[in-house]
Amino acid sequence: MYKQPMLRDGALKGKTVLVTGGGTGLGKSMSKYFLQLGANVIISSRKLDVIKNTAEELSKETGAKCLAVQCDVRNYEEVENVLKEGITSFGKIDVLVNNAAGNFISPTERLSHRAFDSVVDIVLKGSYNCTLALGKYWIENKIAGNVMSIVTTYAWTGSGYVVPSACAKAGVLALTRSLAVEWGKYGIRLNAIAPGPFPTEGAWSRLLPPDMKEEFDLTKKIPLGRIGDHQELANIAAYLISDYAGFVNGEVITIDGGEWLKGAGEFNMLEKVPKQMWDMMEMMRKKK
Ligand code: HXC
Ligand code: NAP
Repeated sequence: MYKQPMLRDGALKGKTVLVTGGGTGLGKSMSKYFLQLGANVIISSRKLDVIKNTAEELSKETGAKCLAVQCDVRNYEEVENVLKEGITSFGKIDVLVNNAAGNFISPTERLSHRAFDSVVDIVLKGSYNCTLALGKYWIENKIAGNVMSIVTTYAWTGSGYVVPSACAKAGVLALTRSLAVEWGKYGIRLNAIAPGPFPTEGAWSRLLPPDMKEEFDLTKKIPLGRIGDHQELANIAAYLISDYAGFVNGEVITIDGGEWLKGAGEFNMLEKVPKQMWDMMEMMRKKK
């Protein structure tokens, strides 16, 4: 597996990046790489102790500046406050990474409407709150900012048992593609990444029934036979938010080892056919 950082040193120098949900999991890994590439990073989420610890750890590890600002993305005033704090500390904010999310598995008919709200509000409302606040600020101040949102492959296929998340991620993808066109005239780009399975405590503790982990071996669903490495995702994220991707707009990059296509292809189940059977069928065809 290729785990090396991809971009040249200093590729994000001079940029300030806001990563929502940056205290844990993939948000933390992306933040670390952005800092290593020379960016200032603001991480925000609801748990102040978590983001403070992460900011301290990452600043120490990378020697760059990481600021923690508490914010529940469901609340527009709190988002505006992050913007204010970020500008006070770094002078401006150039990039928004919509990474914060909430999710759990359940048959949909068992959910209360509040449970549905809870996930949709974090994922969709949280993403449009942040995108709107940053977009207004960029347009007013003539800053060619960019937004990168983390969605999922079921944003376009849909998925049972995570229906609020599927609805919300589909909305984030629509937001990305719509504003990529509408705000192009301001030089603002919007893109997304659709990851397959990447090991994080937040996702994996919630999305697999504990007693059936063996049965749900995710690597079996993936043509490449493995799960993703955080650096692989951080590499694409850093590229998309960098000036190297200056002409990439409205795009969603899938990084899932071919997982969703395997589920979609009509005849992909034929991989279960053993070699001897293919040999026999070939022999019979040639005889005819
Ligand atoms: C059913 C549930 C539930 C569950 C909560 N609720 N958990 N219903 N199953 N497991 C219901 C509650 O009963 C309540 O409804 C309502 O949801 C709100 O609950 P709260 O606990 O008050 O919500 P809140 O504090 O806002 O917490 C949000 C959360 C929580 C989503 C419920 O899990 C969270 O904070 N998650 C953040 C981190 C996270 O989820 N990370 C994973 C992202 S991974 P009632 O009616 O009782 O009031 C991801 C990967 C996808 O998205 C792709 C993988 C391949
Ligand atoms: P994670 O560690 O649980 O990350 C979710 C983050 O969102 C947490 O830091 C959480 O912090 C924050 N958050 C939740 N509610 C919030 C709110 N209301 N306001 C602000 N922040 C909030 O899980 P992850 O796996 O790294 O997920 C990161 C992203 O990748 C998500 O968008 C997820 O959908 C996506 N993704 C993950 C996978 C995977 O396999 N891991 C696959 C596909 C997509 P607080 O609790 O402190 O608020």
